[in-house]
Amino acid sequence: MYLDLPKPFMILAPMDDVTDSVFRRVVIKAQAPDLCFTEFVNVDGLQSPGRQKLLKKLYFTPEEQPLIAQVWGKDPDNFYKTSKEIVGGTIAKEMGLPRGVNFAGVDLNMGCPQKTEVSSGTCAALMNDRPLAHEIIEATKKGLGGELLLSVKTRIGFNTVDLSWIEFLLKHQLSMLTLHGRTRKEKSAVLADWEVIGEARKLRDKISPDTLIVGNGDVRDKQHGLELAARYNLDGIMIGRGIFSDLYAFADNSPWQELEFEKRIELFKTHVELFASTWQNNERPIHTLNKFCKIYISNFEGAKELREKFMSAKSAQELIKIIDFALEGQIA
Ligand SMILES: Cc1cc2nc3c(=O)[nH]c(=O)nc-3n(C[C@H](O)[C@H](O)[C@H](O)COP(=O)(O)O)c2cc1C
Repeated sequence: MYLDLPKPFMILAPMDDVTDSVFRRVVIKAQAPDLCFTEFVNVDGLQSPGRQKLLKKLYFTPEEQPLIAQVWGKDPDNFYKTSKEIVGGTIAKEMGLPRGVNFAGVDLNMGCPQKTEVSSGTCAALMNDRPLAHEIIEATKKGLGGELLLSVKTRIGFNTVDLSWIEFLLKHQLSMLTLHGRTRKEKSAVLADWEVIGEARKLRDKISPDTLIVGNGDVRDKQHGLELAARYNLDGIMIGRGIFSDLYAFADNSPWQELEFEKRIELFKTHVELFASTWQNNERPIHTLNKFCKIYISNFEGAKELREKFMSAKSAQELIKIIDFALEGQIA
């Protein structure tokens, strides 16, 4: 499958419990990236009685397209079943999406360094279990039947930089390979190594010229991403935490730093309203909004106190009332 993307294209990174449908729409309203990913979703859970609970992680609205579903897990058969259900539109239908609205592809998470995932032999642990990594890729490929993009997001090694892992992945002729320029061991403790990402792009040229190479790690905004893409001749750039310090990180000229605090509070209100209308049955508890407060409410006098007031709300409706009070100048 072919996606019509500019070169270089910009992606909003998958961030668990952060980049759900609501936050993706907030970012898109500010300035849309070219492509989004869902949070990572466990295929073994999706193919179990716990499926309904996990579907909220895949939920999206048509305006979030193009969107890649990111999955992880252990059992190749569950990767096959899930990717087949994605291609066939079963999952989109279960989530109540209109006919014809679907994911653009499936990404396999082979980079998450967290203890729980690694000790269960999934995500970054697949770097050390290449027979299983191979089976998972082949099972997903079979499920997708060439209809949607097959992508992998990974790191540049387990304990040390390991180009053999990147070569191994490239031999699978993926549609896209995203490299976060740190090893599993480094977690996020050191700066991302873009030289290795550049080396990976050279390997791509030799092994699998049609695979799109995406660089990821410490990119501040689009301008910074464009510089890195040009320096290392990459197809795409993925931005994660950069969005926390600039909601307009995907804009050519971000207005964020100059935005008045009332405007920022209004944006937060839009976020809360989207949250309330999307998660009507408490699929996501109100306190999950707390982590977003700092994005909007910072860098002005009294910001900390205002954040505390916002974070004391027990429901989205109560939070909207407090925001309205703040906008009317009744609290500051
Ligand atoms: C809170 C949080 C959650 C994350 N969840 C995921 C995830 O679900 N899947 C994934 O592939 N990476 C996940 N990541 C890693 C990011 O996608 C990205 O690779 C990493 O943050 C480095 O990029 P950055 O420096 O632009 O943030 C997460 C990162 C953060 C900070």
